[in-house]
Amino acid sequence: MRIEENYPLEKHNTFHLPVKSRWFMEYGDEEELLRILRDEYFQECLSLHIGSGSNLLFIDDYNGIILHSAIKGIKVVKETPEEVFLRIGAAEIWDDVVAYTVAEGWGGLENLSGIPGETGAAAVQNIGAYGTELKDVLESVDAYNQLTFEKKTITNEECLYGYRDSLFKDEQKDPQIITAITLRLQKHPVCTVCYKGLEEELEGKEITPSQVRQAVLTVRSRKLPDPAKLGNAGSFFKNPILPAEKYQRLKERYPEIPSYPLPDGRVKVPAGWLIEQCGFKGKKHGEVGVYDRQALVLVNLGNARGYEIAMVAESIRLAVEERFGILLMPEVKYIG
Ligand code: EPU
Repeated sequence: MRIEENYPLEKHNTFHLPVKSRWFMEYGDEEELLRILRDEYFQECLSLHIGSGSNLLFIDDYNGIILHSAIKGIKVVKETPEEVFLRIGAAEIWDDVVAYTVAEGWGGLENLSGIPGETGAAAVQNIGAYGTELKDVLESVDAYNQLTFEKKTITNEECLYGYRDSLFKDEQKDPQIITAITLRLQKHPVCTVCYKGLEEELEGKEITPSQVRQAVLTVRSRKLPDPAKLGNAGSFFKNPILPAEKYQRLKERYPEIPSYPLPDGRVKVPAGWLIEQCGFKGKKHGEVGVYDRQALVLVNLGNARGYEIAMVAESIRLAVEERFGILLMPEVKYIG
C-alpha cells in the first residue's frame, strides 16, 4: 500500500494540471482495498477513485483522498472453440490490453486501440470508438461496494451501459470500486470497419484485428493530440442525441450537418461540427486551445489551470446553445 500526503497530480491527469490532493492512496490487492474502505478516517473523508485521469478536469486542488488501484494481470478464465474469456485487472493500461489481445489474434478490441486510460475506468465510461463500445465485448465486472464492502460480479446487463454511461456513473447508487473486468473475445474475428476514415485506411488490406488496430492508430493520430505531448482529455463534450423532429428542423437549416441515426429514431450529431460552425476550431484563449484538427478536443497549451479550461468550455456551450438550441454536456468529469 502506498500513502502520500499533499501529492502532486500532474502525472495523474492527462490535462497535466498542476493540482495536488490532500492524500493519495494506492492499493496493490483486494485486501489492501478493503483495509482502506473499512478505515474510519477514509469513510469520513471526501474520496475519488481515479484511473489515469484521462477524463478528468481538476478545477482546483483536491481536498480529500485520491484512490488508485495497482491491481494488474491478464488471465484466460474460460475458452470455447469460438471464444476466449479474459479477466483483466483494473489497473492494466487499456491500450496494453488491446495490443496483447490483437497480438494473440483475438478479435473485439481492435477498434478501441489507442484510447488513453486504465481498464477499470474504461468500464466505468463504456469507452467507444469507430463503431465499437466496450459494452459490446464486456462479459462482467468485479467490484466492491464502497459502503457495504460486498464484492459482486456485475453482469453486462446489470452495468446499465449507455453512450459513455453506466451504473458506475450514477451518483444515486452506491459507489462501486472495480477490481477487474471480464471480456469475451472472438477466436475467429469478424472485424467491424463501418467508420468512413477507417474503411479508406484499410483499402486493399486484409481485414485482421492487427490491420484494424494499425488503421485506428493512424486515424487517431491524425485527429487527436497525444496527451503525453499536449495535455487533453479527448472529446470534451458528448455528441448530443436529438429527437427526430429537432434533427429534421436543423437539417433544413443546415443541410450539410453530419448525423448518425440511432435505432430508436433519434439522431446523434457530432459536437465537433457544431463547435467548428461556431468558429472555435483552432482558436487559442490564453493557455487553452481548441484543437485545430478536432474541435471537440480542448488542449492545455502549457500552463492552463482547470478553471480556465472550464471557462472556455462554458463559452463553447453558450455559443452552441445560442446558435443551434443544443445544450452540450461535458464528457469529462469536473472535480472540485
Ligand atoms: N467534425 C467537424 N469538425 C471537427 C470535428 C468533427 O466537422 O472539428 C465532424 C466531421 O464531420 C466528422 C464528424 O464530426 O466526420 C465526427 O468526428 P470524429 O469522427 O472525429 O468523431 P467524434 O464524433 O467527434 C467520437 C468519439 C471519439 C471517438 C470518435 C471515433 C464522442 C464524444 N467522441 O468523436 O471518442 O474516438 O467518435 O469513433 O463520442 C473520446 O470519447 O474521448 C473520444 C475521442
